[in-house]
Amino acid sequence: MAARDQILLHLEERKGNWVSGESLTRKLAVSRSTIGRHITQFKKDGYPIESSPKTGYLLQKTTDLLTPREIRDGLKTKVLGKRDIAYFTETDSTNTRAKDMAVRGAPEGALVLSEKQTKGRGREERNWFSPSRDGIYLSLVLRPAIPLREAPRITLLTAVAVAEALLSLTRLKIAIKWPNDILVGGKKLAGILTEIGTQGDSIDYVVVGLGLNVNTPRFPDDIRDKATSMLTETGKRFSRVKVIREYLKWYEAYYEVFKNIGFEPIRKRWRKLTNMIGRGITVEIIDKRYSGEVQDIDKDGALIITDRTGKSHRIIFGDVTGI
Ligand code: BTN
Repeated sequence: MAARDQILLHLEERKGNWVSGESLTRKLAVSRSTIGRHITQFKKDGYPIESSPKTGYLLQKTTDLLTPREIRDGLKTKVLGKRDIAYFTETDSTNTRAKDMAVRGAPEGALVLSEKQTKGRGREERNWFSPSRDGIYLSLVLRPAIPLREAPRITLLTAVAVAEALLSLTRLKIAIKWPNDILVGGKKLAGILTEIGTQGDSIDYVVVGLGLNVNTPRFPDDIRDKATSMLTETGKRFSRVKVIREYLKWYEAYYEVFKNIGFEPIRKRWRKLTNMIGRGITVEIIDKRYSGEVQDIDKDGALIITDRTGKSHRIIFGDVTGI
């Protein structure tokens, strides 16, 4: 674990109390100057840390950090988040980290969390805006025993779990946009990036990345009209830890349904939570465009649209506009 993350976790374990520089150097086997450098950076990043030459460092009690201890405390799941949790104050992309962990054998339910991403990734090579401690940047490792062609179902299941968590914590009018967006008032509140590792024809692991704009106060110019946050929509700040616990709870419940009953109940719920059925849309798939009315999603999670001639198209992936 990087010294930066170790220092933060150590302060967090004792939050509300002073920790001497000397005890940090001893426990973490890092120099005083390394500690000083990281503390300066943490303060610049807005972490509520006090320092005093005599007493050392203090992390305020009320911080909403996504440390494993905070997440696990009161987490009502059996598997998700109960096993490995990798925590970063900063990383390139939690999906990249989770894929590395999965390749090295991380079990189902392993979780990667970061306070900030420097190369947060969205679909189609887009960036995911990931400012420090404002949003949730989380990736989950799953090992579902399903054929590869059914993998898109996992993205839809994830969208349902995110929507349920948001509905139980807020009064927002949440809508799922196929395949991976969570919208409020037509603006994007959350996105899902599913990445799959295969062994031959079967799935080795699925990494499900969630980016959720929780307390993000503002967005860069290029996405200002398209993105929103829970804070922007409600005027209230939310505990990211509570949002994550709620998400994992819903995720596990739906994942159990998926494994024990099948996809149909999830598909039904997805249909209720989307605002796309019956709407006219355009889907872009690499160099092709399809326009038509959304009829449904099918048993594999593909989008079914009917064009002006009445011809039906089954879309497995693509970028939807018009919603
Ligand atoms: C999209 O809407 O295109 C998907 C966005 C997914 C963003 C999340 S943030 C956590 C995880 N790590 C990443 O690099 N991406 C996903």
